[in-house]
Amino acid sequence: MEKVTISLIKADIGSLAGHGRGSEDVLNVAKDLLEKAKAEQKIIDFFVYYVGDDLQLLMTHRKFIEDPEIHKLAFDIFLKCSEIAKELKLYGAGQDILSTAFSGNLKGLGPGFAEMCIEERKSEPIIAFSADKTEPGAWNYYLFKIFADPFNTPGLVIDPKLHSGFIFEIHDVYEHKKARFSMPEEMYDALVYLGAPARFVVKSVFKKDNMEIAAVSSVERLSLIAGRYVGKDDPVLLVRAQERFPSVGEILEPFANPIFVAGGMRGSHYVPLMPVSLKDAHPTRFDAPARVVALAFNLKNGYLSKPVDLFDDPAFDRAREIANEMMDIIRKHGPFEPHRLPLDEMEYTTLPLVEEKLRNRWEKL
Ligand code: 13P
Ligand code: 13P
Ligand code: MG
Ligand code: MG
Repeated sequence: MEKVTISLIKADIGSLAGHGRGSEDVLNVAKDLLEKAKAEQKIIDFFVYYVGDDLQLLMTHRKFIEDPEIHKLAFDIFLKCSEIAKELKLYGAGQDILSTAFSGNLKGLGPGFAEMCIEERKSEPIIAFSADKTEPGAWNYYLFKIFADPFNTPGLVIDPKLHSGFIFEIHDVYEHKKARFSMPEEMYDALVYLGAPARFVVKSVFKKDNMEIAAVSSVERLSLIAGRYVGKDDPVLLVRAQERFPSVGEILEPFANPIFVAGGMRGSHYVPLMPVSLKDAHPTRFDAPARVVALAFNLKNGYLSKPVDLFDDPAFDRAREIANEMMDIIRKHGPFEPHRLPLDEMEYTTLPLVEEKLRNRWEKL
């Protein structure tokens, strides 16, 4: 059976009037370029869309993950789109392109990517998650709930194909280290790190019995690469569903209870994460609440079905209401923590530029 790779690659290359919405004109350019790549059989299929101000290229192909040709294709599309964005004088045109020096893959250049190479099952439902106004560690909580919490995922208890559990690969994005934890038996160990999502980020989840890939996320943190504030590292995540993996419903369930994530307003505030349909994935109020979109596809020989916009469901209305309430509550803190990020995280925002000027005001006690 020939393997297929799913690559979800994203970048903020500019947006309309602030950071809430990408431009149709740019989207159409990306679509044409992907159509061309499909005609030339560089990729099998694609779906292109915006979540907030982040342009999302979902592609399927026969190359492996981190393939130079596929990453170059995505990067060239982002460069072309940045050019158009600059011509259109879009806001933050070229925002996530930190360097144009492409050398083999997208690591360190700005765009985020999540990729998995799989053997297509008899039916291959896969969910592409994209979030705006937050960071890759935001997925930690959800991945824990989906793959390690039996109160969320009954399949862990009652489905013999899930019962042996999953392995989490966690990256330390500050120290550039990784470690694997086996769930459920190392759950408490894993939570030491998972609970600190600014620094520790789940990169992948594997099935324990055969190390089949179950989920993979983007872990790039822009400010850590650039050493300065460049917007948030709005993350993406791919999760396989059903048959040997949690069901679609189990995968969506944790999003019914919004939590606070880092990344709202100037990348400097905790805001709730609101599950929304594609059409509502455009934060306006306080550049928040952070949004998450889930599009499900069925793969067929590498071809994508029409997307199913999973949060386009009244069952998530309450989650949205709660997120709005959480927003009201946290907004009352104004410039105070815990709305504002703790100082060590503020180092990667524009605050140190202000603080620099105030440094001399302080005398020794
Ligand atoms: P199936 O038996 O169709 O896989 O359904 C189980 C399930 O997914 C429940 O959500
Ligand atoms: P983006 O990272 O989505 O561009 O958001 C920047 C920001 O901080 C808006 O308040
Ligand atoms: Mg932006
Ligand atoms: Mg964004």
